[in-house]
Amino acid sequence: MGAQCDNPAMLVEKNVPLQAFNTFHIVAKAHTLVRISSEADVQDLLADPGLGSADKFVLGGGSNIVLAGDVKPVVLKVEVTGRRLVQETAKHFIVEAGAGENWHDFVTWTLAQGYPGLENMALIPGTVGAAPVQNVGAYGVELQDRFESLDAVDLHTGQVFTLNAAQCAFGYRDSVFKHGATASTGGAAGDHQALGLKGRALILRVRFALPKAWKAVLGYADIDKKMAEQGCTEPTAQQLYGWVCDIRRAKLPDPQVIGNAGSFFKNPTVTADQCADIIARDPKVVHYRLADGSVKLAAGWLIDSCGWKGKSVGQAGVYEKQALVLVNRGGATGGEVMTLAKAIQTSVYERFGILLEPEPVVV
Ligand code: EPU
Repeated sequence: MGAQCDNPAMLVEKNVPLQAFNTFHIVAKAHTLVRISSEADVQDLLADPGLGSADKFVLGGGSNIVLAGDVKPVVLKVEVTGRRLVQETAKHFIVEAGAGENWHDFVTWTLAQGYPGLENMALIPGTVGAAPVQNVGAYGVELQDRFESLDAVDLHTGQVFTLNAAQCAFGYRDSVFKHGATASTGGAAGDHQALGLKGRALILRVRFALPKAWKAVLGYADIDKKMAEQGCTEPTAQQLYGWVCDIRRAKLPDPQVIGNAGSFFKNPTVTADQCADIIARDPKVVHYRLADGSVKLAAGWLIDSCGWKGKSVGQAGVYEKQALVLVNRGGATGGEVMTLAKAIQTSVYERFGILLEPEPVVV
């Protein structure tokens, strides 16, 4: 399928099926796809007279996107590999991985090397490079808790730059990479504080600070249940890793078998008053009080209580075991997924007055 362009080092593929490159397995094509294995590949691309100035879309593991149709911007498929211990400080192992590495394989590798700390985030689908974009998290640990820094390349200038955690502006399933530039700002991507980096940065490598004085992160209901079942009070990192894998396999569909993009909506945050209002009407609403006085609600519970589990629009459905996960029952289009998502948003809004915010990026 590939055709060479002006630059002999760069393979430009045309009309590439993306079904295997997105975990929802939505059928769509990239008009143009270029594989990126190093910063030099980005620089070659930018120097290309045709592609250099074209709109671009960075594709990682495709685990957090909904393809609404064929993708017109040039798809940059990130395939930067490598994983290594970069440095040992008094308190941390600093471990680095290429953005194209599979996230779960990397987590497994860190544990095998004796660098625990990522075990609660085992089995999250996707790549290392996509993990900071939405600040992945599970069972009480978020990427930002273990993050050291990352290298990225500015897709406008080709310049490589490094960001620390503060500069990535991590939030709940959020970061600087999910926000566009504001009209009043300009400058290079290195001036990230003034800029959102959506569509502007391609993450090359991510570094993690894994604590030498490792301590299990517990306190999450599903994990506590496993501990009680096994009569274990001080689990090892390897035990936690095994439990997290078991819990996820029991609750969440394996994208290799049933296409999905993990949680489809974020858990919404409401004020204490709004929550009291909902509790008065629905005493069973699952909620968690946050330190700042606000309350996080379980979106899965809200959707479930509106009766969505197992329902479908065309071939797009709501997973039977976890209402927060939308699935592809076989051949679903992006349109069907979005129609289902909108219907869910409407019913939750009508019943609870809360507008659920989708987690994946719609392309
Ligand atoms: N619940 C229901 N019905 C459902 C689904 C959930 O009643 O259909 C209830 C559960 O019983 C539980 C509560 O809602 O009391 C929360 O459910 P769960 O523990 O499964 O976690 P979640 O809030 O739905 C979040 C993350 C997951 C992460 C888990 C574990 C978000 C949007 N999702 O899900 O992340 O794995 O916690 O930490 O924050 C992802 O982001 O793709 C993802 C899978």
